Amino acid sequence: MRRPLIAGNWKMFKTTGEARALVNGLKESLAGNNGVEVAFCPPFTALAAVAELVAGTPFQLGAQNLFWEDEGAYTGEISGLMLKDLGCCYVIIGHSERRQYFGETDEQVNKKVKAAFKHGLEPILCVGETLAQREAGETEQLVKTQVEKALAGVPAEAAQRIVIAYEPIWAIGTGRSSSGADAGRVTGLIRQTLAALYSPELAGKIRILYGGSVKPGNIEEFMAEPEIDGALVGGASLDINSFTGIVLYNTD
Ligand code: PGA
Repeated sequence: MRRPLIAGNWKMFKTTGEARALVNGLKESLAGNNGVEVAFCPPFTALAAVAELVAGTPFQLGAQNLFWEDEGAYTGEISGLMLKDLGCCYVIIGHSERRQYFGETDEQVNKKVKAAFKHGLEPILCVGETLAQREAGETEQLVKTQVEKALAGVPAEAAQRIVIAYEPIWAIGTGRSSSGADAGRVTGLIRQTLAALYSPELAGKIRILYGGSVKPGNIEEFMAEPEIDGALVGGASLDINSFTGIVLYNTD
């Protein structure tokens, strides 16, 4: 059985003080365990503060990006070695905002995925189509290609630890989410792609999340889909009440 994962992608929000307040609040509000794994992905500057607060708790720490070299003259970059040293378990790779604003290519995403595995980090690989690509009927091919390129040369032992987040770009931060059925269909296609790349057994172990305007009011619709194993949450992960409502979606 795949354990559901709900990860908060804080993007470029929260100073260290704000990060501490959010995590302290969530540690209280999420005390009742409903079997869901929860990860916080703060900006680099708040990783150390959040690491201290989640040490010894069931909450996991994730980063939002990494560079593929371990160290060197790469001003402004952060390596997998450094993230592991800080206590990170996860690292988001290939988020559409990185692809769009920072020109990240599938080849760079592939290098980052390999660097994450090298340091024992579990990548949360983001894939998804733009509205124009969706309207042109390109979603399936695009998502398949993104998954194949990100995993090129990654052996099965590592690949089984990847998490994939299907995030249609038109649904991110827009308040316009995908329907559960449609997101379930694309996540199913991602699983088929993984089965073809590796094996159906391995594909059956990989968690595939949905992301894009997930809120307390629509999380159940996504979690009801058999192919969807959790959510990558942006805006709604910045607020104690809304993130709590998402994580505790199956409790009254
Ligand atoms: P959103 O962002 O929940 O604010 O739409 C999701 C994401 O970008 O990971």
